[in-house]
Amino acid sequence: MFTIDQLAAWQILDSRGRPTVAARATLHGGGVGITQVPSGASTGEHEAVERRDGDPSRYGGLGVTAACRAVEIDIAKAVAGRTFADLAELDRAIVELDGTPNKARLGANALLAVSQAVACALADQAGQPLHQYLSAQIGVPARLPVPHFNMINGGAHAANRLNFQEFMVAPTGTPSMAEAIRCGAEIYAALRGLVVDRFKSAGVGDEGGFAPDIATPEQALDLLVDAIQRAGYQPRADVELALDPAANGFLSGDAYHPGDGTLDTSELIDRYEQLISAYPIRSIEDGLAESDRRGWRMLTAAVGEWVQVVGDDLLVTDPERIRAAARDQLANAALIKPNQIGTVTETLAALAAAREAGWGAMISHRSGETSDTFIADLAVAAGVGQLKTGAPARGERVAKYNRLLEIEATSGNGLPYGLAY
Ligand code: PGA
Ligand code: ZN
Repeated sequence: MFTIDQLAAWQILDSRGRPTVAARATLHGGGVGITQVPSGASTGEHEAVERRDGDPSRYGGLGVTAACRAVEIDIAKAVAGRTFADLAELDRAIVELDGTPNKARLGANALLAVSQAVACALADQAGQPLHQYLSAQIGVPARLPVPHFNMINGGAHAANRLNFQEFMVAPTGTPSMAEAIRCGAEIYAALRGLVVDRFKSAGVGDEGGFAPDIATPEQALDLLVDAIQRAGYQPRADVELALDPAANGFLSGDAYHPGDGTLDTSELIDRYEQLISAYPIRSIEDGLAESDRRGWRMLTAAVGEWVQVVGDDLLVTDPERIRAAARDQLANAALIKPNQIGTVTETLAALAAAREAGWGAMISHRSGETSDTFIADLAVAAGVGQLKTGAPARGERVAKYNRLLEIEATSGNGLPYGLAY
């Protein structure tokens, strides 16, 4: 049981230099939690709505002062003097207060700021690290996740010709978080050398991966395999690859444009099968556009037995959508981003829906991030064994990886590292 004494919210900048919401919750018992919410660029159509001011004379319309006022006035008034049994009851109350199906009235950025700040305050009040508090809510064995490091950026996250959005390396064969981080950083350094050498530029995209002037997925994957070997690791045995083509971004009409020509759904699936047989790929996220449900079903039937087929824009961390997609066999894993759904409790419900479907799950950052590390603790508590939070470089990305190192070094109870299955 808890009561909220004070809610404060203010506008800060995210890693792209755009405004986002920070908030602090102070509980009656003295617990304090501070959080900062992230913001996506390649968003699914059904994501909860990020409320923006729309005043073109300030931050090009992207200000979030109204969302901050929603925290300090609307939500603060509604929760004042109320006793809540737990975080779930608070989250239900703020979702009801918003009253819209997509959180457009108060803003998902306002709701998530309150929900995460209160979760942090409850952990603080209990004298627990956040992952322990969340673990008690989730009730599955905690585990240190395999970091999926973003190495090459394209699509909406970079200005190059590459249309696939993310190329990641996942140290699935390393024995610990510390060794996984070392592996990622060493591959990143080797890749930097290759990219500078061949493209005379070390420019990066929004998530810190390099953005060389290439156009095809094969060029990106060849660079990664080369970098893995130069860093002294063995592709597949030590390090596997993961893709997030984010196919919404290169569909026009019925045609996909992966960077070199035009493909229909079955031709794109054939292309994925070729990539899977040529490279050590373990996971493909948003391989098809969210509207192409037939394609999702075909891809899962074709490769789902040995490759993880992850829904991001397709599922938007929505428990109902995950259940429906599982019924229709559209994927076999869910990407989990708290700000797609708007509260911690609903995020945990999405994790539960994935678990009940026998699916995998991967916790994820957004392309617009802050130094907040909530998702690192969430990834440990969720026990899903997978996290993607960008390159092993740039402050807002390494903040999460460094938090995982801190948890590994200080949890003292031998948390296992690695995939959950
Ligand atoms: P976003 O991209 O944060 O820009 O939406 C991340 C992703 O598609 O996984
Ligand atoms: Zn994605």
